[in-house]
Amino acid sequence: MLGSNVQSALSPDAKSRAGLLLKKLTLTEKIGQMVQVNGQQGEISGELRQGIISGSIGSVLNEVNPEIVQEMQRLAQEQSRHGIPLLIGRDVIHGFKIGQPIPLGQAATWNPDLVEAGAQAAALEASQAGINWTFSPMVDICRDPRWGRVAEGYGEDPVLASEMGKAMVRGYQNGSQAQLLSCLKHFAGYGASESGRDYNTTYIPEIELQNVYFPPFLAGLEAGCLSIMPSFSDLNGLPPSGNGWLMRDILRKAWGFQGFVVSDWESIPQLQVHGICEDRLASAGKAVQAGINLDMASHVYAENLQAMVESDQLQENLIDDLVLEILAVKYQMGLFDSHGQKTVTPSQQKNVIQVAQQLAEQSMVLLKNADKVLPLDKNSSGHFLLVGPMADQPLEQLGTWVFDVEQANSITLKTALENELGESLSFHPGLQTSRDQSHVQFKAVSKMAKAADLVILALGEEAILSGEAHCRTDIRLPGAQEALISAVAELGTPIIAIVMAGRPLVMEAVIDKFDGLLYAWHPGSMAGPALVNVLLGNTNPSGKLPMTIPRAVGQVPIYYGHGNTGKPATPETVIGLDDIDPHASQLSVGNTSFHLDVAPSPQFCFGFGLSYSQFVYGDLRFSRESLKPDQSLEVSVLLENTGPVDGVEVAQLYIRDPVASVTRPVRQLKKFQRVALKSQTSIKLIFSIQWQDLSFFNGSSWLVEAGIIEIYVGGSSDARLGGQIQLVTS
Ligand code: BGC
Repeated sequence: MLGSNVQSALSPDAKSRAGLLLKKLTLTEKIGQMVQVNGQQGEISGELRQGIISGSIGSVLNEVNPEIVQEMQRLAQEQSRHGIPLLIGRDVIHGFKIGQPIPLGQAATWNPDLVEAGAQAAALEASQAGINWTFSPMVDICRDPRWGRVAEGYGEDPVLASEMGKAMVRGYQNGSQAQLLSCLKHFAGYGASESGRDYNTTYIPEIELQNVYFPPFLAGLEAGCLSIMPSFSDLNGLPPSGNGWLMRDILRKAWGFQGFVVSDWESIPQLQVHGICEDRLASAGKAVQAGINLDMASHVYAENLQAMVESDQLQENLIDDLVLEILAVKYQMGLFDSHGQKTVTPSQQKNVIQVAQQLAEQSMVLLKNADKVLPLDKNSSGHFLLVGPMADQPLEQLGTWVFDVEQANSITLKTALENELGESLSFHPGLQTSRDQSHVQFKAVSKMAKAADLVILALGEEAILSGEAHCRTDIRLPGAQEALISAVAELGTPIIAIVMAGRPLVMEAVIDKFDGLLYAWHPGSMAGPALVNVLLGNTNPSGKLPMTIPRAVGQVPIYYGHGNTGKPATPETVIGLDDIDPHASQLSVGNTSFHLDVAPSPQFCFGFGLSYSQFVYGDLRFSRESLKPDQSLEVSVLLENTGPVDGVEVAQLYIRDPVASVTRPVRQLKKFQRVALKSQTSIKLIFSIQWQDLSFFNGSSWLVEAGIIEIYVGGSSDARLGGQIQLVTS
């Protein structure tokens, strides 16, 4: 956080060319650059054509017909007075024609390089349609799985989300074959929407904004992102589309951002609905004052700004500054110099599919594997039964935001498993959809399960149950899925559960009935082949949770990096704390921080995930006992794969600052490494920690304080191997 290099994203040449062009524009043409309209899906109306030619439209979203896009660009570049190209925006969120795992699933890979390759693949496909700007990545930290948009982000942790956000920006913007301008969203604090209800109010003190919610945005800007979108939510009484502190003081002054801000869909006139502006005109003025360059879809700038400037209600230089930023980005992207779409070659297309499958495989988190029920032995003489509402759903496995993904490209678990197991597999959906409440099929399922040697249950949530405005209060498996599980479990046949969902689900009531549990998020087009590879052990699972899985919705928000409180629950004070019986009440022998009706721990903690290998950590060493400014600390650890197969482990380093001027989280992720390790071998891992990695915002400034820092290394946020060093400030 100390010392950002955001400014370098824009070249001096782009800025000076933008400055020269700006001087030639009329007020109407300037305002045109601040207007984004919704496309007409496959046509160009007379009004749109005229708008582009007259220079009163600077950007179009949601047009993906390549010929139409090309024609719109031709009108803009060849028939408008200054030939200014259009920004063509689209929500390319996790793949384009080929669906990749939802972002939350991608975060579970803890593999920024692969995530970058995924964004590059999506950029390649999307740029074929003439799209040059995506409203992605969403780097909102979220600690509430009720919120439907948790699917679109990278989880609860600022460091993991920062690494993922940077990877996405690099992938979209730096691809050698294709480039999409990326857009960080939704600035800021949207993921904290009260009660996990979308668009809801948030009150987030600056200390929390700076330490938790801002870092992924700053990281994305440092990776070169040149556009940013405000959140719909109210932030401390000032919705971000009218929040000058956020958009000017933080973004531009403190961080040096030189790109532009696009409003969210009609978020400018919503300032009136929020209750901070009287009407649309006042909303437009407030957004300009706050520094919102581009108005998405609402026309409120087009309707009002000219008259406001002409009647001296708004200064033209405010408009000039905002337009300059948009033009500079258009130059920086090379839009003035390039024409026409690129085509994807067959080998590139193959790579797009491969990346989607790799992402899906690496996103899957093995949460339970009792008696090593997994991997399956496909050569055994046993009979397998596949049951469940998510087993054969080409659309539902894709998850949210898949406008352009072609369902025909989806391979389901049923199809892929049938290919592998042939006659040894039977199938029954049990429930038609994830929300189906009917028990009618259970008898038939039970009969089949009785005859089987192993049941694979494909459970979860349909795509529509997560994403924007799709929030839930009850985050258990929906419909009659819990009853279906019980019906199958009664027969005693071993059960492997696969959960495809857009969020962490509460599985407390059924988890004991599973022998194996693989959390697959919404894996995308290649769900089937990816799942089969993991189930059969062709791919050793390596995913780790990017978000805590709660035992009960009443624990929410529950996350690993919480404060200690003045009365933390301990095994000494809470009877039953060690004995994790979810259904038993807890009893306290003192007043401590816990719920009476559920264990104080989560079902699965952040960073957790099993493998078919076993990883053992040992020999933790520090290169120095004390650390001073400008020095770095090397933390080494011996990681051993004691298991029977080769595997990949995500080694995680956490710190705790036990005494500081303000309370600090009980754990903070600082570094992680994905390491491939052969069976029965070990490797010495080295994590390098810089002074700045230890800084935090104390309410007024970023600083590193003297004192002890505890350091833990291991395979989850519950890592026990630890030691401490001393920070010395002078
Ligand atoms: C969402 C944005 C999205 C925009 C354009 C809004 O409703 O909040 O994330 O980019 O629509 O589709």
